Amino acid sequence: MKRTEIASVLKSGQVGAEITVKGWVRTRRGSKNVNFIALNDGSTIHNLQVVAEAELFGEDLIKNINTGTALGVTGTLVASAGSGQAVELNARTIEVIGLADPEKYPIQPKRHTLEFLREMAHLRPRTATFSAIFRIRHAMVYAIHSFFHERGFYNVHTPIITSSDAEGAGEMFRVTVLPAENAPLNEEGKVDFSQDFFGKPANLTVSGQLEGELFAMALAKIYTFGPTFRAENSNTSRHLAEFWMIEPEVAFSDLNDNMDLAEDFLKYLINYALDHCMDDLQFLSNRLTEEEKNKPVEQRSMELISKLRFVAENDFVRLPYSQAIEILINSKPNKKGKFQYPVTGYGTDLQSEHERYLVEQEFKKPVILTNYPKEIKAFYMRLDDNGKTVAAMDVLFPQIGEIIGGSQREERIEVLEARMDEMNIPKHEMEWYLDTRRFGGCPHAGFGLGFERLMLFVTGMGNIRDVIPFARTPKNCEF
Ligand code: 4AD
Ligand code: MG
Repeated sequence: MKRTEIASVLKSGQVGAEITVKGWVRTRRGSKNVNFIALNDGSTIHNLQVVAEAELFGEDLIKNINTGTALGVTGTLVASAGSGQAVELNARTIEVIGLADPEKYPIQPKRHTLEFLREMAHLRPRTATFSAIFRIRHAMVYAIHSFFHERGFYNVHTPIITSSDAEGAGEMFRVTVLPAENAPLNEEGKVDFSQDFFGKPANLTVSGQLEGELFAMALAKIYTFGPTFRAENSNTSRHLAEFWMIEPEVAFSDLNDNMDLAEDFLKYLINYALDHCMDDLQFLSNRLTEEEKNKPVEQRSMELISKLRFVAENDFVRLPYSQAIEILINSKPNKKGKFQYPVTGYGTDLQSEHERYLVEQEFKKPVILTNYPKEIKAFYMRLDDNGKTVAAMDVLFPQIGEIIGGSQREERIEVLEARMDEMNIPKHEMEWYLDTRRFGGCPHAGFGLGFERLMLFVTGMGNIRDVIPFARTPKNCEF
């Protein structure tokens, strides 16, 4: 018989129907006469309760039905006597498809720590928590494409291997086929990349923006959605060496349009999760509430679903960097020396503790900070008329800090070239980029949303390693 998915059984299964389900055992409990098996097939957070009469199956079969075992069950749907589900499955035949030896299977029906499950990243999707996270992750991917498609944006695949360093940050992973030992040297005694695969140095991309800009100058509204790589040695709960980024780029658009787009985009995604992932969100919310029971009341975070609604329903604060600095200088934690990095004055680069102070203490809402000093931002951001600040914007979220970074771009070629000279960006390697300003350039703007930072916010998880299937962080590249 064809397999019916448990999601559809629980939604619209008819009492009396004869069905087959296939999935993995979450738990089995039972008495001498009857066993109850909670079966999950990934289609929903909810399990289907399978009732197996001992006399029908015998002890030998039943004792193999352990957590993690793959089963096929055929039987009749009956109204459930227990609470929590409308129907359950009275088993007529049970097929053990794949055994999970309880002596060896690491995932047991008890509470495992997230740290332990991180080491078991190949098995953790079998837990309720991680299956919920990864169903939501899929829903967010789908919603991102929907949002842009509905608004007439085109998706562009920008390169993953590149010879340009978009952020000018120099924290890139090199891509080479040269031998690590005895690499060929040139006359200056340096590695001779002319003998390398591409005939010059190449890296994994840190951002698709610069190539995205080229396409925005033709298709007008584009977005990229791809993996990005940063070799920064940041071992925090918000940094990955490999993460996914969404980067829209829009022609004939300025900083205000860009902020509107970013705010609409984030609200759309949060509303999508509320509309389509409620079962999983409810599960994660309960989990968080349970976890936070041990914390003092004032340290507990807002309940997950209320928090998502709150952000979706309220306007974000929009504030220039200069005003944020004023607020931070005069803030209690700064005066009392509570910040790890004291805010000394205009020009201070903001750390996540400052960003979170603004969002969580000062405004209690997401904040978009704009017009940062040019010294702490990338070369491509448009210089403001004061000559000091650039048309940058960072969107700051509770618990996360920076979730989006973006700007209006410098479209005036003389100004752009002067900025590149100031920042020692080799113009001769970027002629292709400068061409967009030489030929039919126009005001344009865009931003980058860190996909895993969005996932942290939507799931309420505390560590970015728990919202990506296989995390890559300093000294960690398993699987
Ligand atoms: O602020 P960033 O560096 O901006 C850019 O890369 C621009 N090119 C974007 C653009 O204007 N098109 O990065 C954008 C976002 C950050 O706000 C953050 O959410 C995320 O990417 N991000 C990271 N996420 C996880 N791990 C890291 N190491 C991250 N670095 C940045
Ligand atoms: Mg940034």
